[in-house]
Amino acid sequence: MRVSRWGLLVFLLLLFLLIAPVAAQPDDGLTVGFLEIATESEWHTAYVESIKQEAAQRGIELLIYDTCCVHSSFINLFSSFVEQRVDVILFEPPVTDGWDEALQEAADADIPVVILERPINTDESLYVTRVGLDFVHQGRLAGAWLAQATSGSCAIVEIEGTAGSWATLDRQTGFNDVIALFPQMTIIAAETGDFMRANGHMAMETILATIDPADICAVWAHNDDMALGAIDALKAAGVDPGEDVLIVSIDAISDMREAIAAGDANATVELSPNLGQPVFDALAAYFAGESLPKWIPIRDGDVITQQTNGPG
Ligand code: AHR
Repeated sequence: MRVSRWGLLVFLLLLFLLIAPVAAQPDDGLTVGFLEIATESEWHTAYVESIKQEAAQRGIELLIYDTCCVHSSFINLFSSFVEQRVDVILFEPPVTDGWDEALQEAADADIPVVILERPINTDESLYVTRVGLDFVHQGRLAGAWLAQATSGSCAIVEIEGTAGSWATLDRQTGFNDVIALFPQMTIIAAETGDFMRANGHMAMETILATIDPADICAVWAHNDDMALGAIDALKAAGVDPGEDVLIVSIDAISDMREAIAAGDANATVELSPNLGQPVFDALAAYFAGESLPKWIPIRDGDVITQQTNGPG
């Protein structure tokens, strides 16, 4: 019997589809291991809540480890999810590097990994997708707001997020890209505050020990918690934040909205904490055999200001 070239191609394609591995969702429901850093900030607490709620609605069992933010504990907990043979690992990396071995361990055990929120440096084949934010864009929005509010002339103090975290690096890049367009906008001091309120307070105190507040036009903090800590430190030093010194940050958590309404802060970039639905939609698509992009972006919201969020 003669088989045409097209016939042979169709046959080979069908054969490929039949034997190509498609991840199967276990019949008895999913058990998902979730490694996160909820205690870092108020935004984190809200986003972890959204993951929990969505899992509960879909009848998915969620095993959660909150370990803010020691690298070695992360690795140990990751391995313990592999040992427990969970069906999926949701993994939120505090910093960019150092995850290859853990991811390889999961890959060797055929456990799919979905990265949440912050990107990492690794071989893309080691994870299914990342559901997360566009940190450069957020930094740009904050920078653009400050450039407009100060007509492109401002001595800026920067309170940075965790060193080595993608959120810190990209927010810095986005903000700096914008202020580079304005020669009179300069960063006169920078301190790290690890995305935490108490550390933001300490960072601001350290800066005030060497810089006269009268020389500061604005505080640019990589998240609201650190900005709120800085606001307290400024008040303790007799400075009127929001008036004497502008405050711009990212997240739009409720405490920051209140600070803006009270005139203690000026602007924050709204960040949706609602990652639950897109994360579990992505998992459903994965188990249905769909191929996913390596990044499923979560859109940033508006810039909240005293005009959009103000008193009254
Ligand atoms: O990675 C997201 C950032 O991390 C949020 O802006 C912040 O509040 C945090 O802890």
